[in-house]
Amino acid sequence: MKIHTQAVHAGDRKKAGPHIPVTTPIHTAASYFYESMDQLDRVFGQEEHGYSYARYENPSNVALEELMTVLENGHGALACSSGMAAIQMAAVTALADRRKSVVAANALYGATVSLLLNVLEPTGVAVRFVDVCDLEALGAAVAEAKPGCILIETISNPLLRVGQIDRIAELARAAGAALVVDNTFATPLIMRPLERGANFSVHSLTKYLAGHGDVLGGVVVTDQHHLESLRTLSRAIGPVLGPFESYLTMRGIKTFPLRMERQCGNACRVASWLASHPRVERVYFPASPDHPDAAAIRRLFPPHLYGAIVSFELKGAGRAEIFRFMNALRLVVRATSLGDVHSMMLYPVMSSHREVSPKHRERMGIRDNLVRLSVGIEAPEDIIEDLDQALKS
Ligand SMILES: Cc1ncc(COP(=O)(O)O)c(C=O)c1O
Repeated sequence: MKIHTQAVHAGDRKKAGPHIPVTTPIHTAASYFYESMDQLDRVFGQEEHGYSYARYENPSNVALEELMTVLENGHGALACSSGMAAIQMAAVTALADRRKSVVAANALYGATVSLLLNVLEPTGVAVRFVDVCDLEALGAAVAEAKPGCILIETISNPLLRVGQIDRIAELARAAGAALVVDNTFATPLIMRPLERGANFSVHSLTKYLAGHGDVLGGVVVTDQHHLESLRTLSRAIGPVLGPFESYLTMRGIKTFPLRMERQCGNACRVASWLASHPRVERVYFPASPDHPDAAAIRRLFPPHLYGAIVSFELKGAGRAEIFRFMNALRLVVRATSLGDVHSMMLYPVMSSHREVSPKHRERMGIRDNLVRLSVGIEAPEDIIEDLDQALKS
């Protein structure tokens, strides 16, 4: 079935006694009891399917996990309390029975860099950053570092670089490393990393999938080989999503393909308008003909879908001019996050990449005159009009 159909059907409509709820309810119980201790014992021992304790499994989360497994064409999933919790769970699972070494993309969300350097490295995990869009450089880094895990973003935050995920997966497999892909910016509408050979596809559900700016959540979708150990680690660590957030996320996902298509279309319009604006120095957008990864994008992305983030640099601007420009926005919301129904703008140096050292930011190519726009579902003319009046200010 197509993703539009999967998004409204998968996971829902489980039998609950004689009736079947049309949508999955919010199951708030922290624990479950049975008529007999023998049965509870079988459930704890996983000889019989059932629920015992919400940190282990919760019916609301199970429905969302089934939905995400279908959307990503994986073997199973774990719904987590945030995107960062999901990235940590994927990385820790990937490294569980492998060398404690990660080769990570140069271009990553700031908190992911922080997770690698401030959480994993101090526990003895070697971390090395490399330009994963340069397969030769990646090959050399892998040969040297012999990583247990390679970590990339499908479309990088915020400069929208796109690596050749299938070739990276081949490299990982040959080196015995697991490939973890943060698929937040691309979503399963544009990319299904597990179909391209990745072992883990991770999302911040907070973004396009939930889509309405009212949920913090994450998910790890994985293959058959890693699911059991992901679940075992989760039972010990307890990074799980709450049932109310599961419900909101499932509700959001039903319209996600429609929203995402609209947002991608709007982003194309906005990006081409920005490209000819005299106050704009440079636009970063995967559809741009001069995008450094244009060949990979042509080969790997479906036609006309390039994501819905547009990053751009303002001519001769520093922090003060960026603040003036962003303060002048009337429609586009000045806030951290992305993927919501409303357009949002963020200043990476100040927020998403604040914790990254200036040296590392320079290596990533994030300059002080760069802003990141998440294009919403509004009428594109209105988004453009707002940007125009703010640029004039
Ligand atoms: C690409 C990417 N991955 C992961 C995250 C983290 O997600 P969360 O804020 O849900 O923890 C973000 C947040 O902005 C992100 O942009």
